This record gives sequence, structure tokens and C-alpha cells, in this order.
Amino acid sequence: MTHFLDIHTTSQPDLRQIIDSARDMKTARAGRPKGTRDDDQPLDGHMVALIFEKPSTRTRVSFDVGVRQMGGQTMVLSGSDMQLGHGETIADTARVLSRYVDLIMIRTFEEATLLEMAEYATVPVINGLTNRTHPCQIMADIMTFEEHRGPIRGKKVVWSGDGNNVFASFAHAAKQFEFDLVFTGPEPLDPERALDGLYTTERDPARAVEGADLVVTDTWVSMHDPQSARERRHNQLRGYQVNADLMAQAKADSLFMHCLPAHRDDEATSEIMDGPHSVIFDEAENRLHAQKAIMRWCLGV
Ligand code: CP
Repeated sequence: MTHFLDIHTTSQPDLRQIIDSARDMKTARAGRPKGTRDDDQPLDGHMVALIFEKPSTRTRVSFDVGVRQMGGQTMVLSGSDMQLGHGETIADTARVLSRYVDLIMIRTFEEATLLEMAEYATVPVINGLTNRTHPCQIMADIMTFEEHRGPIRGKKVVWSGDGNNVFASFAHAAKQFEFDLVFTGPEPLDPERALDGLYTTERDPARAVEGADLVVTDTWVSMHDPQSARERRHNQLRGYQVNADLMAQAKADSLFMHCLPAHRDDEATSEIMDGPHSVIFDEAENRLHAQKAIMRWCLGV
């Protein structure tokens, strides 16, 4: 079974194949109306379940549109509407869904839920975000960087802010795609220890971004964080805001990324988000192309 569960559990050649395939599929449909189908219809006759136990705009719409462009059909399921949210086991849910659909994408809280779904499903399972990682996002981000600046291998990527689940997938990608990753943020929000060795830390954000090819940030309060943490997070992270002064320390042609949704003028200023370094909406678009390639890879079509 070819699941897409994380970047560090997918081989380097497979990751490269997915990025190349995404780029080719994007090129092939350049300029076409979004509602038109691709010339290739590899998902013709395929049904895809998209399960969301957390809110989503980009993941939900990009998977749904991507399946339709490739000739398949989707059903979007919310965790609370399913028996899964009312006591049915993950294992039984996985076995039942596998009788109806050809592919399962799940966005959930605990990584254990994703892994149990993958263990018991007899169809491929894709990680649409857990509290620990967000691999589809980072595949789109790698694609976006390379679209603008060529190979990411050997480049300097700086993450400013919370060492959260999106950072974790960047750390996994740093090893697989062979780029240098620097984390700059306050010690209480350091990434989890399991990521040690995949990145370096520089507490001073201005020093961290010196010579950076790419500066990345994310929301200061993630979906799985208690809202009661909001004020404390703001106090901890205010000095790590990506603004014009910070970007001025990076390379002149550096890129700025944010996976969105953003809290404008908290983690990044609108001046940066809408400015010449920013590729945030290319990132969002490339979720569509990257995930289409991931689905094809999972299904071998
Ligand atoms: N970046 C991202 O995953 O966006 P959504 O939460 O809107 O899916």
C-alpha cells in the first residue's frame, strides 16, 4: 500500500518524482479554465474520501478540485458527522471506507489516528495535516521555491516563529531535499526533540536570516493550541515577526512563504505578505498541483 504519510517516510526518488510530476501537470494545463478536466484522466472511475476533523480552506478545496480535474469523484466528510466522531474505532472506519473508496485523505488531530487509519485501510491514505506534521503543504512549498529559484538543494531556509507541525515537515524536507534549515524562535516554542539534527537554531532573528534564500513563518497559535495561549504566544513571538527590517537581512532575491491562513500584521506584516518577496499565493495554488501528483503516486496511475 502506497500511503503518503510524511516526507521523512517517503523516499528521496519518490519525493522528486512527485515534485516533477506536479510541475509537469501544472504546465500541461496552464491557461485553462479551472473547471476543465485534464487531458489525462488517471482518476476516472475513482472515488476519494476527504475527511476533515479540523477546519480547512486550501486543503479541502485543492484536493476536491484536483480529483475532479483528474476525472475522479470526491466525498467530503467531517469527523463530527461520521460515526468516527461518535465512538466507532478508527480501524473499523478504515476497513469500511476501504470497501467504498479508492483513496482516503484525512486531516486529524493526533498522528496516531492517521497511522491507525493507514494500518487498517486497504486503500492509500494521505496525511492532510496532523498536530505533528503537514507534508502536503511542504511538497507545495518545495515546488514553489524551485519554480521561482531553481533547485532548493544547498539553499538556506529560515523559519521564524513557532516550532510547530508545519516546521516539522520543513525539517523532514531539509534532510530529504538537502537544504539548510535554520529555526529562529523563543526556546519555549522550540520544535520537538525528535527533529534534532535536521536544523540549526539561532535565537536572534536578524542573524538567523542573514543570507537566507527563503524566509518562512506561520500563525503564532495553531489549530491544536488552546486559545488561552494567545496572549502569551504574542508576547513570546513579537520579536520574530517577519517585517521589512527582518527581510532586509536576507538575500536581496529571497522569497517569503506562509502556508496560510495568516494573521496579518502578527507573524508577518501585510507589507511583506503583499510585497515583492512574497510567493504565498503561488504556494496556495501549488497545493492543487502537488496533491494531484501525490494522489497519482499513491494510486500508481
Ligand atoms: N495551509 C493549509 O493547510 O490551509 P487550510 O488549513 O485552509 O487547509
